[in-house]
Amino acid sequence: MFATTTEVGEALGRQQYIATEEISTVLYLAEKLGKPVLAEGPAGVGKTELAKAWAAASCRELIRLQCYEGLDETKALYEWEYAKQMLYTQLLRDKLSQLLSDATSLTAAADRLASEDDVFFSERFLLPRPLLQAIMADKPVTLLIDEIDRADAEFEAFLLEVLSDFQVSVPELGTLRARHQPLVLLTSNNTRELSEALKRRCIYIFIDYPTAEAELRIVRLRVPELAPSLARQAVELVQRLRRLDLKKSPSVSETLDWARALVLLNAKALDPKTLDTTLSILLKHEADLQRARRGLSREERGRSDEPPSNEVRRLRPLR
Ligand SMILES: Nc1ncnc2c1ncn2[C@@H]1O[C@H](COP(=O)(O)OP(=O)(O)O)[C@@H](O)[C@H]1O
Ligand SMILES: [Mg+2]
Repeated sequence: MFATTTEVGEALGRQQYIATEEISTVLYLAEKLGKPVLAEGPAGVGKTELAKAWAAASCRELIRLQCYEGLDETKALYEWEYAKQMLYTQLLRDKLSQLLSDATSLTAAADRLASEDDVFFSERFLLPRPLLQAIMADKPVTLLIDEIDRADAEFEAFLLEVLSDFQVSVPELGTLRARHQPLVLLTSNNTRELSEALKRRCIYIFIDYPTAEAELRIVRLRVPELAPSLARQAVELVQRLRRLDLKKSPSVSETLDWARALVLLNAKALDPKTLDTTLSILLKHEADLQRARRGLSREERGRSDEPPSNEVRRLRPLR
């Protein structure tokens, strides 16, 4: 357990995660209060990565449940291994017929077989899915419930139950309780409203695009090969793009892809040609590309009285 919020931030930093003070505080409180964290925000701002870093920073295994439309209990909690049960009945055929040999009627045979149910509905044939894996784990784990907004509202209600007491009831086996309460992080890309009940249960945090300073630290950490001055210019440009009215703003993952591309292309500066040929790494809609090209050149003209230069496109330094 971390003793202070600063310790949390430092531990995340060692996992190459740049956390805001708000993030460190929320994780610190979640662990102390034993509450799940619900992290909401646009795609690509580091929500999934945060769960990985949190798990590694607290020396816990990460168990991940990826949500999608139609996700149900059998995929999230457990299912019986039907194929294995069938295989066992085939291999144990002789034993089973011995067992049933003295039964005089069909009902008697069925009763006899039913009394052996326990064999086939035991942990041996139980296939635990992520939620049950987290509950049954021998050691404390971190559970990531990723993109909960993609699952249906009914699944959200079911999840609430599991998160409220970390126990599940398997009719054939009884109630299974968590040996160690997992650290839980739910993420949402904000594609739909989540229920108030879920929000109430969790400590909520909105993770937005990082500030220029934080994004520069992320780029320097993740793409150290990129020259510092170029990294600064690249981040400044991405931040300017985010201020334009675009369909889809570039995310941190796109900034990193772009930074890697600049390294591969051996770019020395963000000259118009480099910018023009690589802008589609940041923006994935034709309308956004057009708008960005117009917006950037308008900004450039507004910023300088000099005639537009064909050479290096100057970018204002970060403040
Ligand atoms: N604060 C951060 N510190 C370090 N890397 C980050 C940070 N935020 C985002 N990243 C990088 O951005 C990438 C995309 O983040 P991801 O967790 O997949 O986003 P999300 O889950 O929000 O869609 C990660 O692989 C990571 O390299
Ligand atoms: Mg994600």
